Amino acid sequence: MDLILRGILSYTSKRSGVRLDMYRESYIRRRIELRMRFLGLNDLSEYFRYIKSNEEEINELVNAIAINVTEFMRDRSPFEFFMQKILPELSSRRSGIIRFWSAGCANGEEPYSIAIAVLETLPDRGFSIYATDIDDDSLKKASVGIYERDQLKNLSPELLNKYFEKTGNRYKVKEFVKKHVRFKKHDLTSQEPITKYLDAIFCRNVMIYFTEEQKEKVLRDFYNALNSGGYLIIGKSESIPKIGFECVNLSEKIYRKV
Ligand SMILES: C[S@@+](CC[C@H](N)C(=O)[O-])C[C@H]1O[C@@H](n2cnc3c(N)ncnc32)[C@H](O)[C@@H]1O
Repeated sequence: MDLILRGILSYTSKRSGVRLDMYRESYIRRRIELRMRFLGLNDLSEYFRYIKSNEEEINELVNAIAINVTEFMRDRSPFEFFMQKILPELSSRRSGIIRFWSAGCANGEEPYSIAIAVLETLPDRGFSIYATDIDDDSLKKASVGIYERDQLKNLSPELLNKYFEKTGNRYKVKEFVKKHVRFKKHDLTSQEPITKYLDAIFCRNVMIYFTEEQKEKVLRDFYNALNSGGYLIIGKSESIPKIGFECVNLSEKIYRKV
């Protein structure tokens, strides 16, 4: 690891109290490069100077590095609402395949959770899930679909048994779940359309790092990608500007296209 990079990491770790030594160098580099691009800086030494004179950047960098933290059925209750209210409603209103998008899918925990939720609630229904992320490494892990026990702690032993095969100490998503999910690289800020005629979009804990202006652009894309009456589910600690969506459940952060 080069000296400047090491310097940035040890400075950031000391100031934030967050350990950064468990991440791979290539991953850290990519995250710092994303920060540098955002700030319009060209090299690592310039970034090191910037971080030393801008205290708030320490937090930004830590967030940028910890950004793909996720787990199966994250926060649980939005998934319960999804299974109890949204899926039955979509099923009675829609004929044909129900289409979902997990935007910012990280290592696949979210799209596979959606698949499990649908298989549990509507076992005979056709459905498909687009799962996209900007990060190649995450997408690779997602398509392999092997997870540590800790990532699965929100799933009951019955669900684990039904939807995963044990491989050593880890758990692999079974093929009949995987076949519903299609992974693809996509940058939400690119404004490039990914798909249309969707019934629900999960974009949880992704836009939290976007500016308000960027968030509005992404929301317009979501609006265009959804069928009317389609749902948008964001992260529990997030909020969105009111652009074409009505709130269905404020505490679960569930919205519907009007
Ligand atoms: C904290 S994770 C959220 C994962 C999952 N949605 C959840 O809530 O558990 C954020 C993910 O968003 C991805 N991401 C960040 N910026 C993105 C962008 N511009 N386009 C697409 N994905 C992005 C990151 O690579 C990361 O995998």
